Amino acid sequence: MSTHHALQPGELVAVTGASGFVGAHVVRSLLGHGLRVRAVVRDPNDPSKTAPVRAAVADLPPAQQALLEFGAGDLLVPGSYDAALRDCQGVAHVAAVARLAAKDPQREIVDPSVQGVETVYAAAERSGSVRRIVHTSSIVAGVRYDDARKGHRFDERDWNTESTLQTDPYGLAKTLAERRAWQLAEAQVAKGGYDVVVINPGYVLGTLYARAHIRSSPATVAGLMTGAFPAIPRLSFAYVDALDVAEAHSQALLREQASGRYLLTGPEATLRQTVDRLKALYPQAKWPSLPIPDALVLLASRFDKRMSVSTMRKLIANELHFDHGRATRDLGIAWQPLDESLRRTVDSLDAGGWARLRRR
Ligand SMILES: NC(=O)c1ccc[n+]([C@@H]2O[C@H](COP(=O)([O-])OP(=O)(O)OC[C@H]3O[C@@H](n4cnc5c(N)ncnc54)[C@H](OP(=O)(O)O)[C@@H]3O)[C@@H](O)[C@H]2O)c1
Repeated sequence: MSTHHALQPGELVAVTGASGFVGAHVVRSLLGHGLRVRAVVRDPNDPSKTAPVRAAVADLPPAQQALLEFGAGDLLVPGSYDAALRDCQGVAHVAAVARLAAKDPQREIVDPSVQGVETVYAAAERSGSVRRIVHTSSIVAGVRYDDARKGHRFDERDWNTESTLQTDPYGLAKTLAERRAWQLAEAQVAKGGYDVVVINPGYVLGTLYARAHIRSSPATVAGLMTGAFPAIPRLSFAYVDALDVAEAHSQALLREQASGRYLLTGPEATLRQTVDRLKALYPQAKWPSLPIPDALVLLASRFDKRMSVSTMRKLIANELHFDHGRATRDLGIAWQPLDESLRRTVDSLDAGGWARLRRR
């Protein structure tokens, strides 16, 4: 295998989780950089899995669209990515269950992430052709709320050591999956195999290409649009545009010097500041204005099983801050402004009919 890990235009990249919100953007970005893409979905014969990818690339020039093909894989089925990764030089491993809570969090959230790493990385090794894997982790793999209270600015040296299956299964899943990815990467160094670069995005906003994308991070903006969130809890977000996340995946595959972890956080804002921006962008629309007292939020999270009360308490008590300098310097990310990200989120939700703006 070549000692160069970075890819050249014309080489082939498998994108896992291509049907998802982030995955569809990654496919589009890679094609735009002249890479060939195998978009890997659970069932390429199911139009609901391929349609989001086709929608994401629909306005690319035909020559770039021609570089797209589909493959199949299921994170929980060992060996199921072998065919999809055959002859690939790169992998963007985006797939995971991006949900905060479930009835059986081990089976529904943690297992797909952690077993998925085993399944996909084993397929990469067996391919004999994969030189680099770009692994989609999250800022939740780095956050420790104890440090946040001390005014800490998180960077790539930070690791989440707090999340448990009971308090935060998604944080646990992303942390365990990323740690396992680094172990497997280390074993590859001695063998002269693939290397791994990790992208840790914040809260992703941007264009949705399918109704299913609403289940992920766009749910918050959708809830503000529809009135499902009638008032504003004291929460803060480190946002990042899906365009920047996708560009980071492309650059991590294309730049030889890309290495280690990259925090991908653009504008930071409280939910109150976010709503103020939405009001300014869409003055004719109806937006929530009343704050929700913390006690009520905690009471609601006792019944709404999406988030444990202890995690919600930590989220309310902390404004998290991040240093994104490494991604700026190494990957050349320029950071989309929050207004643009909000506009793309709202406009695509409204145009798709997946969440409607309410007129005042
Ligand atoms: N959105 C964010 O704010 C954010 C922030 C940081 C990190 N991330 C990470 O970004 C990645 C993508 O998240 P997303 O926001 O795009 O969520 P999403 O829209 O729910 O996409 C998840 C993708 O993973 C696939 N997947 C789930 N279980 C699978 C399985 N058993 N086998 C094969 N594929 C499976 C889904 O396929 P189906 O369509 O078949 O379900 C879908 O393509 C995840 O790793 C997530 O942790 C997201």
